[in-house]
Amino acid sequence: MTRRFFIAGNWKMNITLPESHVLISPITEFARRTTRLSPTSVTIAVFPSFVCLHTVVQAVGECDVVVGAQDCSEHAKGAFTGEVSAHLVASTGATHVLVGHSERRTLFGDTSAVVSNKVRQAFDAGLTPILCIGETTEDRISGTTEAVLDDQLSSVVSACTPQQKERLIIAYEPVWAIGTGTAADVPTIADTHAIIRAILRRHGGEAASGIRILYGGSVTPANASEIFRIADVDGALIGGASLKAETFLDIVQSAMDLAE
Ligand code: PGA
Repeated sequence: MTRRFFIAGNWKMNITLPESHVLISPITEFARRTTRLSPTSVTIAVFPSFVCLHTVVQAVGECDVVVGAQDCSEHAKGAFTGEVSAHLVASTGATHVLVGHSERRTLFGDTSAVVSNKVRQAFDAGLTPILCIGETTEDRISGTTEAVLDDQLSSVVSACTPQQKERLIIAYEPVWAIGTGTAADVPTIADTHAIIRAILRRHGGEAASGIRILYGGSVTPANASEIFRIADVDGALIGGASLKAETFLDIVQSAMDLAE
């Protein structure tokens, strides 16, 4: 069976509006060229800042590149100065949203309950949420990785309807691998993705067995191929290496080589 990979670039707070034009242009060019060759094997996605969302959506146009936001509010609408709701995100033409990224959880206090509300808002607005989960170094050393992942997943997955389970995407990002230059090794990724798959089944039943699980944390052109060869890895969420079109597209190409 052909594998379908989802390769996503998380631009974080790095790319200005003028820079977003420069970065998206070779990505759309690549997508236009390759979609003609192999229509559905790899989904390319980018996550610019809120400020750049509409511009990037316009630049992508009809071309096969997904555009999403890096976060959304847990509230639907109202007097929440500085917040951006899922409906506002959707109004730019973006279709996806990252929720629960470790930087949101650790730096901005997003608890599992808050993340769960954000996922609900995303679905209500018609967006596809990418739920980011992952353990810290301390969790791994103390042997609580599974309990932490279970806590991050359970309330979200058990609240999803069967249709929502078909759309939800998980990004497993060990906190200790993000932005460090050292990705988790292959056995660790394989073991943890299997644990996540079991947790999804436990809380979401059989309908949850098709949920795509991406890996994130120091993915580069050098390690992408070995990561994508792991059976339960359905793609990647890429930070640093997505800030240059060349390295990002090298990673996309690695997925395409395996998907075909
Ligand atoms: P990184 O970031 O690829 O720079 O490690 C991944 C992420 O935070 O999503």
